[in-house]
Amino acid sequence: MHLTLRIWRQQSAPVPGRFITYQVQDVTPDMSFLEMLDALNEDLLSREEPPVAFEHDCREGICGSCGFLINGVAHGGQRGTTVCQLSMRFFKEGDSLTLEPWRARAFPVIRDLIVNRSAFDRILQAGGFISAPTGSAPDANAILVPKEAADTAFDAAACIGCGACVAACPNAAAMLFTSAKITHLNSLPQGQPQRDQRTLSMVVAMANEGFGSCTNHGECEAVCPKEIPLEFIGKMNRDLMRAVWRRHREPLVIPGIVQHPLHEDAGTEEGRS
Ligand code: SF4
Ligand code: FES
Repeated sequence: MHLTLRIWRQQSAPVPGRFITYQVQDVTPDMSFLEMLDALNEDLLSREEPPVAFEHDCREGICGSCGFLINGVAHGGQRGTTVCQLSMRFFKEGDSLTLEPWRARAFPVIRDLIVNRSAFDRILQAGGFISAPTGSAPDANAILVPKEAADTAFDAAACIGCGACVAACPNAAAMLFTSAKITHLNSLPQGQPQRDQRTLSMVVAMANEGFGSCTNHGECEAVCPKEIPLEFIGKMNRDLMRAVWRRHREPLVIPGIVQHPLHEDAGTEEGRS
């Protein structure tokens, strides 16, 4: 099979990029998409041209490092499939494919098809953890987890942090990712002590990274390779309302942000305005 690839080439974030067209020959249906790019890179290297930079690690849909737009669709448009799991049998002789990196201000291009997704790491650092006493190994059944909570947490934990949801959203919102991470821990008994603080901290971190807001397009759910449902965004919003409401009773400390319980402002001019 012969393919024409139009690939975004960009040396680094401050350097302007452009599309360059390549011809790839001898692509077989049993190749994966990344193996097809490996073949292109071998050809480029044999001609002493710089290979196309793309990120990958597990190549089996687990790590979340691969991912770019293929003809404008994140991960190429096969439901529940990452780029590394995408098979060349879905393409046909003579196809023209345009490959470009995720487009979002919060994900600056590192090189070619690779973007910097460390904004996701900072959202996780803000609250994607639980605090538990360490010591000897606890009894596995010391904290009972209801089946429904375990199922919800398991579904949410499937998010691999690939960033496709951000790339597909017209607002470059990170709400599907953030809601999956919040729902994972907020569903479990072990996540309850920090539930409110976790929700507020992660939502604030998301806003600080420059992601947009959700306007219910649903594009994120459509491209998510782990089929994370929009329902988790609803859960996150409910948890956010709960956390804001409970601040009436308990002040919350979010690093870098000075917060006062709403009732403490009530008697001041500021509180009444
Ligand atoms: S929610 Fe889906 S698309 Fe978004 S980062 Fe997680 S796995 Fe990727
Ligand atoms: S390389 Fe790990 S998910 Fe694609």
